[in-house]
Amino acid sequence: MNIKELAPRILLVDDEPINVRVLVDLLRPSYELIVAKNGVRALECLQAGPPPDLALLDVVMPEMDGLELCRRMKADPRTAEIPIIFISALGQVHDEMLGFDVGGVDYITKPISPPIVLARVRTHLALRKARQELARQNCTLEDVIAARTRELGLTQDVTIRALASLAETRDNETGAHLKRTQYYVKRLAEELRNHPPFAAALTGRAIELMFKSAPLHDVGKVGIPDAILLKPGKLTEAEFEIMKTHTALGRDALMRALDHEKPTEFLRYALDICSSHHEKWDGTGYPEGLKGEDIPLAARLMALADVYDALTSRRVYKAAFDHARARQIIEDGSGRHFDPAVVAAFRLCTEDFQQIARTYADED
Ligand SMILES: [Fe+2]
Repeated sequence: MNIKELAPRILLVDDEPINVRVLVDLLRPSYELIVAKNGVRALECLQAGPPPDLALLDVVMPEMDGLELCRRMKADPRTAEIPIIFISALGQVHDEMLGFDVGGVDYITKPISPPIVLARVRTHLALRKARQELARQNCTLEDVIAARTRELGLTQDVTIRALASLAETRDNETGAHLKRTQYYVKRLAEELRNHPPFAAALTGRAIELMFKSAPLHDVGKVGIPDAILLKPGKLTEAEFEIMKTHTALGRDALMRALDHEKPTEFLRYALDICSSHHEKWDGTGYPEGLKGEDIPLAARLMALADVYDALTSRRVYKAAFDHARARQIIEDGSGRHFDPAVVAAFRLCTEDFQQIARTYADED
């Protein structure tokens, strides 16, 4: 490989042949040079080849002076980052100010002093290299953070699925139930966010987290005895009291797993959904008998999704209701079982509910 191929490239623009010769003799041993006699010619060179690492521009030149050339280079993303050193006659303070104004990084005065030119060139090339290295490291860091975030998200998803399927294996309900209710919650939230009182709470991220945590709603059923959980017929009052504890069991399992740490945003939604998805708008639900807006929003959405799915699914003790019948029951429950705003949102997306039910139908 030619050693010059590795050498930094310097653009040298000056209309005075003597100056050019001095600078060329000085810089050629260590650098690859692109020489132009004015701004117009320099721009042509910049268009034609790869951008240089540094530019040395004379200020006063015919056709296009160094200041205008600098402005144009700074305006072009391809050349904007190239450090520009101006060369001007000693004492032209006004020129120097203008040079810095248009984006120059340094000044060398004529007649030039070879050691000063070499030192300035080396310094600014080193600075540029350091800046580029830093930018590369930042890019790498962003890649690492993105990869870690993806990894964390994946771990979260797998953990949720593992927990949810644990509950599922003990229950008659299927994986399809978890999928359907998850999508019902999402669709309701998307519809409800169009209503001003809910827009602030239902951000894209909030909806994503509700969607993710929805499959955990019945995770507490793991703690319910088989005789009750798998009983084919109607539960006695005493059995139902035990069944009701699945909400608190789910919440307590998550709280124990947190081990006194503050819940993350995701776990906050999971806790709300686990513990409050059987609360009712009029205060007659369980486990706390919460009323109205005291019931967390995610749980109010989950309540409707869960009931709609139970109604439209076949159970050992009942056939699946058709959509119209299930819809009527939900409508009748507005203001009693369900938040009227959530029922209003449901009314606007019943087609999508039916589509979700078809997409994630139970396998018979
Ligand atoms: Fe439940």
